[in-house]
Order: sequence, then structure tokens, then C-alpha cells
Amino acid sequence: MNREDFLMLQQSDNIYLDNSATTLKPNCVVEKMVDYYTKYTSNIHRGDYDAAVRTNYEYDSTREVVRNFINASSENEIVFTKGSTESLNMVAFGFLKKVLKPGDEILINKGEHASNVLPYMVLAKEKDLKIKYIPLGEDYEINVSNVIKSITPKTKVIAMAYVSNVVGDIRPIEEIGKICEANKIYFVVDASQAVSHIPIDVVKDKVSFLAFSGHKMMGPTGVGVLYGKYDLLEEMDPMQYGGGMNQFFEDDLSYELKKAPLKFEAGTPPIAEVIGLKEAICYINKIGVEQIHQHELELKRYLVSELEKIDNIILYNKNSESGIVIFNIEKVFSQDTSIYLNHYNISIRAGNHCAKMLKDELNIKNTCRISIYLYNTKEEMDKLIEVLKNSKDIFKIVI
Ligand code: ALA
Repeated sequence: MNREDFLMLQQSDNIYLDNSATTLKPNCVVEKMVDYYTKYTSNIHRGDYDAAVRTNYEYDSTREVVRNFINASSENEIVFTKGSTESLNMVAFGFLKKVLKPGDEILINKGEHASNVLPYMVLAKEKDLKIKYIPLGEDYEINVSNVIKSITPKTKVIAMAYVSNVVGDIRPIEEIGKICEANKIYFVVDASQAVSHIPIDVVKDKVSFLAFSGHKMMGPTGVGVLYGKYDLLEEMDPMQYGGGMNQFFEDDLSYELKKAPLKFEAGTPPIAEVIGLKEAICYINKIGVEQIHQHELELKRYLVSELEKIDNIILYNKNSESGIVIFNIEKVFSQDTSIYLNHYNISIRAGNHCAKMLKDELNIKNTCRISIYLYNTKEEMDKLIEVLKNSKDIFKIVI
């Protein structure tokens, strides 16, 4: 789908299947950023000259594009950050640190990425909170009944990815959102692996906070989003102070901060990246998130059905409904498989995928991860299948 829009695909024969790590960028995103750097470079919210006015427009109008993309109620609920990791750390240390009390419980699960685990672990030690784990289901998925069973009167936060970056299960976010609302639980969602793969509606899903990164949705690295319900953002403290986020400050130590979202955007932000993110969203909207998801699912189902026929392939997540497939070749270290595939110009990721507690559930530390996106093709799947079928030479190639 749309392969001609990606110069990188035109210039190489590489079969890129590491889209959960980062996606390729369409030419329009690159060109949009080059335009900023070559035609109207200037800072935002400071200058009165033509280039600065254009930069203000390009930057500020991105907020509305993001708002519409995730169906937030107001563009003031959209904060630009460096990426999901920064967004989630801001929630933990700018908001939860303020509102949680010793003994309060945070519910996570063992399939989570480090960035949606470690901030709460650090906070738990600092504030004497309890981290509890929602058990995973039979297919390593999150299901509603396990969520309900895990909630106690002390549960104050549920944090989880919308789509796991390893198992690839799409979590029942809408139902969990309702449960959170009914129980006055803050619901923190890491949408990094979801946002350009399935439609997101933060109002319908009743999430308190939602984080995602530009580079996993065909946008630039170095930019991401934190969505927060406006009243929660107003309560949240910034983690950085400086220019652009204050109303005034005086020598008697008095100062006043701007309202959200600007109070969270101190200093010169990643201007070109924010503008590039807008272009990426416009590009996704032209194709349609549902179409992207259908395409990924079709390829995933085909790939799984073929890999199932290969005796020495162990598949861990046949049933998940995203474009992620995790597997191992029997008795082969996952990184050796990745190096073997690289020999045939196929790029995947091997390892624990930053979800280091998942080994307790999978009973294996490392897996190979294929992550499919809109520009992947059936021919690419066939090549991958053929190479995996003929893996008897793996150690000749790897060593
Ligand atoms: N979080 C990214 C991944 O899952 C880097 O690969």
C-alpha cells in the first residue's frame, strides 16, 4: 500500500518489518520539515515577521489536527512532548506524585514496556505506593474479567498500553475506561503501538491520560503527545520551567504560569518535528486508520497460517489482532535468527522488546518480533516465509 510515497522503499530492497520500533517516513513528511528548515526557519510565539507568523501557524494548527485525530474535546488537552516516554513520566511525576497517598495501588501488567512500568516503580518507592499486576489471559492478553478481579478499594491508577508492543493484543480500553470511571480510578494509556493502527477516541474510551510518539506513526523522532483531560492537566505540575510557559515572574519570587498546554512546553520546542507530525497525521487520514489495520491483519493472518506449517517455528501470539507476530526458531537464540534474516535483507527485532517482565509469562526471555505496517506486501511475507523454511543453514550464516 502506498509504497511509492516512501523514498526509502524506492532506494533499497530491504524488507522492513520492524515497524513497532519505528516506522518509515513518507516523502511528504520529510519535505514538510525541509520546507521549514529551508524556507521559513524561525522560533514560535516570539517573532512578528513573516517567517515567524508562518511558523506559528504551522505549529499551532498541529494541535487541532492531533485533537481531531484522537477526538479530544479541546486542543488545550494536547501537550507536545519528546515522545511517549516523556509523556508517561510527566503523568507519573507531575500528576500522580501530587495526588497519590501512601498505600494507594497502581495496577499494571507484566506485558508492559519499561516506560509504562519504571516511572510507577520509582514513584512507588518514593511515596510508599503499591504496584500490582493484572494477570494476563491464556493468550497473554489483558481481559476485562482479570481487570475487575484485580481492582481493590485502594486502586487509584490503571496504566496499560492500548496495544502491547510484544504480544500485539488490542486491549479492551473502552470497557476498562468505563470501569475506571465508575471506580474513580485514573486511567493512563500508552497508545504508542495503537495510534496509527486503530482509531482512537479518548472521550469514548474515558482515558485520563494518553501518550504516543510521532516516529511510530510515520512522523519524526523527537516529538510526541500527551493527551490529558483538561482539569487533570490543570492540576498537573510541569517538570520543566522556562520561557514560553510563564505569564510573569518578579524579583520577590512571585510568578504565574500559563495554563495548559503551554505550561508544559518550556523552551523552544521541536518545531520542525511538530510540523512533521501534522503532515504524518494528514497522510494517515488520507489513507484511513481502519484500512491500515485491515491491511496489517490480512498480512498477519497469512503469515501466521504459513509459519504454522513450518515444524521448527514456535509462534507465541497467533490470535492477537494487530500486525505483530512473535516467534522463535526452535533451539535458536532470537538474535541469531535476526542476524540470519538480515543476511537476506529482512529487518526484524529480537530480544525482550523492553517488556522485561513478560518472560515470567511467556517462559522465554527473548523472541523475534515481526511488525507489519501499511507499506508491507504479501510478496515480502512470502520471501520471509521462504527464508524461515530454509533455516537449516542458519549457523553457517550467523557464525
Ligand atoms: N518501543 C519500541 C519497540 O517496541 C522501541 O520496539
